[in-house]
Amino acid sequence: MSAITVRVPAKVNLQLAVGPLREDGYHDLVNVFHAVSLFDEVTAAEPVDGDVAAAPLRVRVEGDHTGQVPVSDDNLAVRAARALAERAGRSYRADLLIRKSIPVAGGMAGGSADAAAALVACNELWGLGLPVEDLMEIAADIGSDVPFALLGGTAVGTGRGERLAPLETGGVFHWVFALADGGLSTPRVYGECDRLREEAGVTAPHPTASEELLAALREGDAKALGQALSNDLEPAALSLRPSLVDTLAAGREHGALGALVSGSGPTCAFLVESAERAAELAAVIGDVDGCRSAITAYGPVPGATVAG
Ligand code: C5P
Repeated sequence: MSAITVRVPAKVNLQLAVGPLREDGYHDLVNVFHAVSLFDEVTAAEPVDGDVAAAPLRVRVEGDHTGQVPVSDDNLAVRAARALAERAGRSYRADLLIRKSIPVAGGMAGGSADAAAALVACNELWGLGLPVEDLMEIAADIGSDVPFALLGGTAVGTGRGERLAPLETGGVFHWVFALADGGLSTPRVYGECDRLREEAGVTAPHPTASEELLAALREGDAKALGQALSNDLEPAALSLRPSLVDTLAAGREHGALGALVSGSGPTCAFLVESAERAAELAAVIGDVDGCRSAITAYGPVPGATVAG
């Protein structure tokens, strides 16, 4: 094979419980991940120009609002491919093309998704045959959300979010996502969360999974799930981007079963009863001030998968 394309989903966090700041700069989490039908595609191809002096790993990015995505060695997909080559014990070459639909710096793990897709694509392109357990280990070194993008579905993440236990869900859930102009930096949002807690004199408790949320997922009960959604990063995202308050309020006013900031934001997620309700709500939310556009999706969907 001279080119492999992998399709990889975005995630929304159904519960994001954030513990105190750890000494290593991370926070212990209970992170209920849910993969939704909004996909990036990563193609890994053998370089055709035969330019042996060129960098072994090169990357191009296509799609809207991709100006903030680095096309240097810092690109998460490049870092993932490099880590895979190192694990295999030799250097490999690949040209990576990322076609983005997942919002950039939007709190939907788009960069992590591209890293996961690059691992799957290069494992195939280079004929390494590494098992998924090995890819999961490499993924966890690249970023806390990368292992989930390999797994997909719905799962509880603990530790930094990288230790995953898959969850069976009793149905399909329908979503509207309100995309905002510009992104929010994940470390900045975690930092703001710590600052707000310090200001309020609050010590975060050890994070635990919500029994109501897990039961709602098992039973496929969208109404109960809507009431159980929670995100400890939401106050920090709202503090840094106050216009999101209006976006969330508009969704609730127009009948969303639940509304929350997705991960570190600024994307907002709205749970609704059906695909029809999702289309109706997206039309309304897309016109709210501060919202760039609104899109519909459903979950759960599988993780990074070879598409061709
Ligand atoms: O793991 P990843 O590189 O995606 O994390 C990005 C940043 O988000 C970290 O540098 C850290 O500031 C913050 N983070 C955290 N606790 C976590 C996961 C991420 O503080 N569990």
